[in-house]
Amino acid sequence: MTNRTLDGKVALVTGAAGEIGTATIQLLAERGARIVAVDRDSEGLARAFGKLPASAEALSIVADVSHEQDVASYVTRARDAMGGVHIFFNNAGIVGDIKPIPDYPVETLRRVLDINVVGVFLGLKYVLPVMRSQGVGSIVNTASVAGLMGGPHFAAYSASKHAVIGLTKSAALECAGSQVRVNCVCPGLIDSRMLSTIVNGMPVEKALERIPARRLGLATDVAAVVAFLASDDARYVTGASYPVDGGRTAG
Ligand SMILES: NC(=O)c1ccc[n+]([C@@H]2O[C@H](COP(=O)([O-])OP(=O)(O)OC[C@H]3O[C@@H](n4cnc5c(N)ncnc54)[C@H](O)[C@@H]3O)[C@@H](O)[C@H]2O)c1
Repeated sequence: MTNRTLDGKVALVTGAAGEIGTATIQLLAERGARIVAVDRDSEGLARAFGKLPASAEALSIVADVSHEQDVASYVTRARDAMGGVHIFFNNAGIVGDIKPIPDYPVETLRRVLDINVVGVFLGLKYVLPVMRSQGVGSIVNTASVAGLMGGPHFAAYSASKHAVIGLTKSAALECAGSQVRVNCVCPGLIDSRMLSTIVNGMPVEKALERIPARRLGLATDVAAVVAFLASDDARYVTGASYPVDGGRTAG
């Protein structure tokens, strides 16, 4: 039987043209959510839409999550077109360069922080009032295992993802006493186009030795946890960071 736990809910997803975003809009739509998909890549958004179930009700918006005006506008358009925002997957992000700190260009650091931290912050800034006025909502930010641990040559990305966890906990506390929940997912090594940048020349087999599950994660593995956190099954979960990493951060 189809699992329609998200029937009637409106899901706003950023980075929807990316691998994790696309897998997530597919799963949320299969579970009955109406989708508002945001990305700066219009062609990628069109490709992602092609993978949605034929019955899905969906709207796409081209926007840059690091521009405040774009964020204010995508949130207003989503609310006006769909009548509310019940689920917000605040997911767009970039890796930046993988370099030792002395070699790391400060402009790249600023770009990483601008998208991964300012972008997530702006999403919260504009979605929280909508959810608080509805009295209910679930936000899932995308952090990373790099938000739970440091890594050589990953300072910028790791700092940005630690910040996402801080934003998640603080936003959850700001929603205390309401039915608005804020959590984050911390994907590990996901079989995706980011992978080659992340492993940075290390053979994948070597990277797998550090993963107790002995396989790469899939975008669908992340989507499944997002769908759970988005649903009422997670009604008592807020301020939490969920590793989706095959046990990588357990040791
Ligand atoms: N792939 C992995 O192994 C992995 C691991 C941990 C965390 N993550 C995180 O998961 C999230 C999604 O990653 P993915 O693997 O799907 O990567 P991806 O590159 O496939 O997708 C990222 C999407 O974000 C969009 N984007 C980037 N900057 C944007 C901006 N300023 N405005 C609007 N859209 C923008 C891109 O166009 C792209 O479609 C990111 O936050 C990433 O840091 C990924």
